[in-house]
Amino acid sequence: MISRKEVLANLDGYDLKKAKVGVVASHSALDTCDGAISEGFRTVAVCQKGRERTFANYFKTQRDSSGNVVRGVVDEVVLVDKFKDAVHPSVQASLMDNNVLFVPNRSFVSYSGIDAVEDQFKVPLVGSRNLLRSEERGDERDYYWILEKAGLPFPKKVERPEDIDSLTIIKVHHKVKKLERGFFTAKDHDQFIEKSTELIKQGVIEEDFLKEARMEQYIIGPVFNLDFFRSPLEEKGEQLELLGVDWRFETSLDGYCRLPGKQQVELEEDGIIPEYTVCGHNMATLRESLLDPAYEMAEKYIEATKKHYDPGIIGPFCLQTCVDKDLNFYIYDVAPRIGGGTNVHMSLGHPYGNALWRREMSTGRRLSMEIRKAIEQERVDEIIT
Ligand SMILES: Nc1ncnc2c1ncn2[C@@H]1O[C@H](COP(=O)(O)OP(=O)(O)O)[C@@H](O)[C@H]1O
Ligand SMILES: [Mg+2]
Repeated sequence: MISRKEVLANLDGYDLKKAKVGVVASHSALDTCDGAISEGFRTVAVCQKGRERTFANYFKTQRDSSGNVVRGVVDEVVLVDKFKDAVHPSVQASLMDNNVLFVPNRSFVSYSGIDAVEDQFKVPLVGSRNLLRSEERGDERDYYWILEKAGLPFPKKVERPEDIDSLTIIKVHHKVKKLERGFFTAKDHDQFIEKSTELIKQGVIEEDFLKEARMEQYIIGPVFNLDFFRSPLEEKGEQLELLGVDWRFETSLDGYCRLPGKQQVELEEDGIIPEYTVCGHNMATLRESLLDPAYEMAEKYIEATKKHYDPGIIGPFCLQTCVDKDLNFYIYDVAPRIGGGTNVHMSLGHPYGNALWRREMSTGRRLSMEIRKAIEQERVDEIIT
C-alpha cells in the first residue's frame, strides 16, 4: 500500500483553489461529474478509446465566457488505450499537475487491478483506498469478514455442494465476460451438478469454477442497494446519511421474470439459465420501519471499518441487501465506494438525499459537496487516502 505520507505529499503539491474532480469514465462517472459540476468544480474523465463518446462528445461541457456551464458535465478528457492505463505514470502525472482529486469507482479498480490501485496509483483518492480490496470476494479480509466482525446479517454460507439443501446461489466469475457474473442457483446437490455441467458445456463457467465460488443461502425477497454516505467532516449532525436506494435490472434474469411461469420452466429444461449481468437501475424507497434497521446496519459497518480498516469508510458506500418475508435485511455485498446504481439519482437527487439537504442531492453531488467543504475548512487530508 502506498504510504499515507506519499499521498499527503502529493496533495501538498496541489493548488486546491483549482482542484478538479477526476474519474474513470465508466460505472458511476456521469453521476460523479454531474455532482462535481453542480458544486462548482471542473471535471476530468479518463476515457478508454472506443468508449469515450458519451463523455467526450455527448456530455462534453460548454461554458460561457464567465466559465458557467451551459451544457454537459465533462470538461476534460484523458484518452487512454485501455482503462488500466489510468495508473500509468504519465497519466498520473498529468492528473496531479491538473490538481485532480480522484474518485475511485468499481471500473477503476476492476480494470486497473487492486494491486495497482493500492501500490502504484499516487493520485489522492477521495475515499478509503484500503477498503477497496474488501470487495475482492474470497480475500481473507473481504466484506464478509467485515460483516462478521460487525455482527451484521448476511446470507448463510454453504461450504460444499453436497451441503446444499435449500435454494442456494452460486457466485462464480463468467468465463468469457471476465468482469461479469456466471451466477446460478440450485436447490440441492443434484441440481447443482446438473446446472453446473450445463453451464460448463455452454462455456459460461470454468470447469474448476468451484475453486473461486461463493455459495450462500438465496434470500427470497426484493433487492435494495442502500446508498449511504459517511462524512468525517460533519460535527453538528450525524456523520451517516442515507442518500438513496436503487435496485438493478439484470439480464437475462429480468427477461425471464417477465415470462409466464410455464415458459420459464421450459426455458430451464432447454438449459437456458438466466444470467445476472447488470444493465440498468431503478429507484426505490423503503417502508419507514425499515429505515432504523438500515441506519443501524450502516453504523455497525462504519464502526467495524474504523476498527479494522483505519481510518474507516470515508464518503459513499453501498450496502447491497435483500429483505426476506419477515422483513429481515441480509447484506449480500458491500461497495466501499460510490455504488454502481447512483446514476439513478444523478442531477435529480433522491427523496432521502433531497429531504436531508433541502435541495437535489445525488451521491455525485454529495461527494463534491464534501470535497468543497474539506477545501474550505482546510481538511482535505481527512477525506483522501
Ligand atoms: N444471497 C443472495 N440471495 C438472493 N439474491 C442474491 C444473493 N446474492 C446475490 N444475489 C443477486 O445477485 C446479484 C449480484 O450479486 P452480487 O453479490 O452483488 O454480485 P456482484 O458484486 O458481482 O454484482 C444481486 O443483484 C442479487 O440480485
Ligand atoms: Mg454487488
